[in-house]
Amino acid sequence: MAPCTLFDPCCGAGYSLSVVAFLHREALQEVIGADVDPVAVECAQRNLSLLALEGLERRRVELETLLAHFGKTSHREALHSAALLREQLLAPPCLPPLAAWAFQADATRGEALCENLAGRTVDVVFSDVPYGQRSHWEGDASSTPLHAMLDALLNILAPAGLVAIAADKSVKLAHPRYRRLEQFQVGKRRIAIFQAL
Ligand SMILES: C[S@@+](CC[C@H](N)C(=O)[O-])C[C@H]1O[C@@H](n2cnc3c(N)ncnc32)[C@H](O)[C@@H]1O
Repeated sequence: MAPCTLFDPCCGAGYSLSVVAFLHREALQEVIGADVDPVAVECAQRNLSLLALEGLERRRVELETLLAHFGKTSHREALHSAALLREQLLAPPCLPPLAAWAFQADATRGEALCENLAGRTVDVVFSDVPYGQRSHWEGDASSTPLHAMLDALLNILAPAGLVAIAADKSVKLAHPRYRRLEQFQVGKRRIAIFQAL
């Protein structure tokens, strides 16, 4: 299978996007995040930069400085993790650099996604959508924001593209313009995998 583009339209700090990208590096050519919150986007950009040696080196230097100033265990552990990630990035097979970036947009608005993706299509969407405790739907969100986001994604999905949504159990994971291929539970989250009809 050709390397694919992975997109998270509600990426938050980009934590899950970065982890999926590290775990499936060889299957990917580009990783893109979006969030309505500009502060989250900045954070996602920093986390996504760790997918490249330069970003990882920048973070290593920051952590060395922090450790020298404060001597915290958390900084020592993070340095150890950075070394492991570096080993993983350098391990064979030697892959071309992965493009990884994030932008600010309301994921329920198709035009905003199209504009920022500038003609790109995405092969796989994975998103842990707002679940209402510390994280809420924002922006122009309609009364059915997940439905609106699935509508918006139809503008940028590649043919045969897949959309995986993780949501609270109370959210109805269905949309008339998608076939639901699978649904399962992980802890308190329900995950559904869709393909556009
Ligand atoms: C559950 S969090 C995602 C956490 C993320 N998976 C991570 O690894 O950090 C949901 C995110 O959706 C974002 N969000 C809320 N409404 C949105 C919208 N209309 N468009 C895009 N993002 C939105 C919130 O700002 C929040 O960062």
